[in-house]
Amino acid sequence: MSRIPMIAGNWKMHKTVAEAVRLAAALRGALGNLAGREVMIAPPCTALSEVARELTGSSIHLGAQNMYPEDSGAFTGEIAPAMLRSVGCSHVILGHSERRQIFNESDDFIARKVAKALATDLTPVLCVGETLPEREAETAVEVVSRQLRAALKGLTKSEALRIIIAYEPVWAIGTGRTATPDIAQEMHATIRRLLQDLFSDPIAAQVRILYGGSVKPENISALMAETDIDGALVGGASLKAEDFIQIVEYT
Ligand code: PGA
Repeated sequence: MSRIPMIAGNWKMHKTVAEAVRLAAALRGALGNLAGREVMIAPPCTALSEVARELTGSSIHLGAQNMYPEDSGAFTGEIAPAMLRSVGCSHVILGHSERRQIFNESDDFIARKVAKALATDLTPVLCVGETLPEREAETAVEVVSRQLRAALKGLTKSEALRIIIAYEPVWAIGTGRTATPDIAQEMHATIRRLLQDLFSDPIAAQVRILYGGSVKPENISALMAETDIDGALVGGASLKAEDFIQIVEYT
């Protein structure tokens, strides 16, 4: 079953509105009508609405970097899923390791977010990944499986089909130290087997699993050559138009 490759840009806490619009305009010019590849960008929420305007009519999807799993209420500083829909987001990154580590987000909290995103018609890009000590202790598979089982618990098969998973080993994020294609492929295959166990073979065959962690124009092709790597979640290299464009246009 063919899975359309997806390249997603996580801009993290970078770019003013004007800078974000400039970057979006450059991406739109180069990638706005690309066939056979899906592109998603996740600017900071202050720039979402202007970037949405800039992307009007292009095939680039707009995503948020986080959300709160309630419809509305006294949650100072938080953003509801329907608000993200209302500015034009179709995707939301959930469970990023920076959210897990810096903001102490638990597996259960992330599971609530995944369910809420699906209920609001947002496509979750669910991030999982082990830290360096966990990899060194040979518990990477255990950690990633635990994160996934928790986040996917109780989902129906049709909900599972709508999820995108991003495997991001924490030791490779922003460090310049990419997982080798072999290491990444091994974990991606493990994740796909888990999806078979939890849901079914056809679902496991359809869900896209992106790799994230120091993806650059120089390493994207080797990563994408692996059977179970269906795209990339790109941080640092998504902040420069020419780098991101090269990654999307990998051959
Ligand atoms: P990086 O970040 O590409 O800068 O390593 C990836 C991510 O955190 O999604």
